[in-house]
Amino acid sequence: MDIVQTARNIISKNSSNGIDDPFYILNLEDVKQKYEIWKEKIPRVVPYYAVKCNDDERVLKLLSNLGAGFDCASKKEFTQILNLGVDPERIIYAHTAKQLSHLKAAADEGIQKMTFDCEEELQKIKKFHPYAKVVLRIRFDAKTSFVNLGPKFGCNPITEAPKLIQICKEMDMNLIGISFHVGTATTDYKVYGNALDAVRKLFDFAETLDMKLNFVDIGGGFMGDNPELFNKIALTINTAIDRNFPSEDIEIISEPGRYFVDTAFSVAAQVILKKKSEDGQIYYFINESTYLSFCYYTDKEKLKYSVIKKSNINGDSEKKLSTIWGCTCSSLDKMYSDIEFPELEIDDWIVFHNMGAYSRTISSDFNGFSNRNSYLLGWNEKSDRKSFTLSYVQMEF
Ligand SMILES: Cc1ncc(COP(=O)(O)O)c(C=O)c1O
Repeated sequence: MDIVQTARNIISKNSSNGIDDPFYILNLEDVKQKYEIWKEKIPRVVPYYAVKCNDDERVLKLLSNLGAGFDCASKKEFTQILNLGVDPERIIYAHTAKQLSHLKAAADEGIQKMTFDCEEELQKIKKFHPYAKVVLRIRFDAKTSFVNLGPKFGCNPITEAPKLIQICKEMDMNLIGISFHVGTATTDYKVYGNALDAVRKLFDFAETLDMKLNFVDIGGGFMGDNPELFNKIALTINTAIDRNFPSEDIEIISEPGRYFVDTAFSVAAQVILKKKSEDGQIYYFINESTYLSFCYYTDKEKLKYSVIKKSNINGDSEKKLSTIWGCTCSSLDKMYSDIEFPELEIDDWIVFHNMGAYSRTISSDFNGFSNRNSYLLGWNEKSDRKSFTLSYVQMEF
């Protein structure tokens, strides 16, 4: 069953119960395929899924069953992962500014791998988690990315990193390796090769201090909706690994977020008001929002949608100049301005595709609106199931 048919089933069932809230549709098979593609294309690199990107329990369970690790940024995230029965060894605490109680909890839980990018954070780790396996995060920005993380995280690989490696030695900290994050959703595939070259230089420097590093973390940044680009990135990474880290003794991981969930989720939202604007275009208000799934981390330029019309279910309607506003009282809450959009009526629905990344985790309850329900693709009343089989993975919910 396709996404739109699934949405129709849910809308119909909910409306018979007086419910018209927005909801997600999750295609778990898509997540599984992404995992398989990753293993095939970049076999040396173990993906540690970035929980911050989408913490849907079913996605986490599936990735855990498939053998992924997890990048966690806080106590809540690593507790959620530990509660799934994941070994702490398969977690990296990848936040370079850790809240103290979270750091202590990580120590209590036996989470050892964690990143840092300055001496001050290292001092904190030394005090609260002295036997941690620390990973130095360097800054290595892609030329283009949707959000550049470099201004906030990562030390300079040339002027700061060698000093920090030396400090680790002086403090007797267990430095295991180097990480970077080139920025989220990059098209600059070459950056991974250059960054891996820089990591190699730091491995060599550490060796001059008799420190043996054996861990590389290539971060995230991979889009989930561009297979050609992913192929180029995979080739770049594999070549750079062969060049710099031919030995299988070097453990290499990544922290992909959006790659796994981008295309796995759609959002269905109801038109709650249609009105004419002064300039003649149509204003739609829908019960989704930039404070819900359409946050600043969502690439709204890539609008992909289907419409579900109450009156004429299969008919195409003429496109008209339109603006789509979110449901809150904020006038900043505008998703799309001045776009050509099929004419809709109140209580018609729009299904927005490729909405899995940074939607539900950033979503707030601002103004009392929320989007908390997600249904599996194929849902219908009879199949409101508690277990689900994805060719070889059996999941219980
Ligand atoms: C430390 C860290 N790792 C991984 C990710 C995931 O990045 P992406 O979704 O681009 O793969 C992020 C995103 O902000 C991050 O901050």
